[in-house]
Amino acid sequence: MHVGIIMDGNGRWATHRGLARLIGHKRGAAQVKKIVKNCPRLGVKTLTLYAFSTENWKRAAHEVEGLMKLFRGYLANNLVELHDKNVRVRFLGDPTALSPEILVLMEKLRNLTEGNTGLQLNVAINYGGRDEIVRATKEIAAQVASGELAIDDITEARFSTFLDSRTQNDPDLIIRTAGEMRLSNFLTWQSAYSEFAFLQESWPEFSPEVFESTLQNFHSRTRQFGAVVPKRSELAE
Ligand code: FPP
Repeated sequence: MHVGIIMDGNGRWATHRGLARLIGHKRGAAQVKKIVKNCPRLGVKTLTLYAFSTENWKRAAHEVEGLMKLFRGYLANNLVELHDKNVRVRFLGDPTALSPEILVLMEKLRNLTEGNTGLQLNVAINYGGRDEIVRATKEIAAQVASGELAIDDITEARFSTFLDSRTQNDPDLIIRTAGEMRLSNFLTWQSAYSEFAFLQESWPEFSPEVFESTLQNFHSRTRQFGAVVPKRSELAE
């Protein structure tokens, strides 16, 4: 099962407690560790986390700097543990705007965990769904221009392989914390048939117990992928 999470509400969680927004993000990073740890037990094979969107650069400079510092710390401090836990880490998003220090750590983590067979963890940093589709389209256009790819070979399946998620399965469930009910440019292409769970809890309040009950709720839903399943009484004799 693949779960995508929009980790929203760190800032509000902190502000409500009279704390600086960055304290909320720090709590958020601690929460990431707990949730990642619980995935194998809960049957989650792939986890995609929305850590920083292409729009997040518009935030106050000190908050952007603080978030980047937090990502650096997370990548550096969790490298060994993630590898020990057999987690395979990949990154989604446009890396070109990220600092060289972060890029080096991302590359190190990706290479180190490449052969791991446990949880597939995707971290979306400087990610936007539309941006991802545009970058994929440019790559496809370049291949068509060079004669490497024929226009008729551009199918949905082929198109997906040009996205940052490459050949990974689409998310079965997308969770967003902190009460907002929108996708905010997260997995725009990949979410076509995803189920959604919008929770009131902020990300620092998203405990493994809340995660578990959200997954239980998902498993009780019927998924039809656009197909109409006829009722027994409607079936031809
Ligand atoms: C949204 O809360 C959260 C973010 C923009 C950042 C998410 C980052 C983390 C959880 C920290 C670390 C992540 C990793 C992968 C180590 P918000 O600031 O928009 O909250 P608000 O809506 O209450 O202001």
